[in-house]
Amino acid sequence: MDKLHILCNNNLIITITINTINIMNLTPLEYINTLSKSGTVAPSSKFLIKKCLKNIDFKEAKVIVEFGMGEGCITGEILKKCAKDTLLLSFEINPKFYDYCQGKFKDYSNFKPYNESAFEFKKCLNELGIEKVDYFISSLPIALLDKQKAEALFQEAKTILSTNGQLIQYQYSLNNRRLINSVFPKVTMDFTFLNLPPAFIYHCS
Ligand SMILES: C[S@@+](CC[C@H](N)C(=O)[O-])C[C@H]1O[C@@H](n2cnc3c(N)ncnc32)[C@H](O)[C@@H]1O
Repeated sequence: MDKLHILCNNNLIITITINTINIMNLTPLEYINTLSKSGTVAPSSKFLIKKCLKNIDFKEAKVIVEFGMGEGCITGEILKKCAKDTLLLSFEINPKFYDYCQGKFKDYSNFKPYNESAFEFKKCLNELGIEKVDYFISSLPIALLDKQKAEALFQEAKTILSTNGQLIQYQYSLNNRRLINSVFPKVTMDFTFLNLPPAFIYHCS
């Protein structure tokens, strides 16, 4: 299988299969361009994904909501790990990523992708009669969002979190630390160098 390797200055190699790019009907350059518009330069590494998902109780989780599905690297891991009756709702505004993930994960009946903004999540949950969410996994590029809207989104997520639930957000800088701390009473932080770019992970409850 052909692979596109992106070599970073710390010798971390990000590998993207050309097959993935082909399925999305993009040239490698268009693919990188699409990624960079989405607030990153490469999909999350397996190291970052592992740290994002490490506190999730996959046996007990009933509803997981994902913000910013991208090409589905976190989505796929969640679907692999969670129970068959755990509902995963994933939001993605980019129609190319949405179409790609819809096809890629079509065999999972517990997967519900939305080509809608994360800001619409409450409306979608209401339509399904869902009152509580066990985990939010957010890859949203907070740095590119309106700060008041981002804060309102976190507040809305907090009100609907189940008792032992968490919101997990990764970011490439600490710029929005204060915003996240202002919403959630308990925030623990993690970091991985093994991602392009290196990332901070917030576990919020
Ligand atoms: C940094 S990428 C992360 C993609 C993937 N989850 C990963 O970790 O590699 C952020 C994604 O969020 C999407 N996005 C940005 N704003 C959004 C919004 N308001 N609602 C839903 N998705 C959004 C972008 O299109 C992009 O695919």
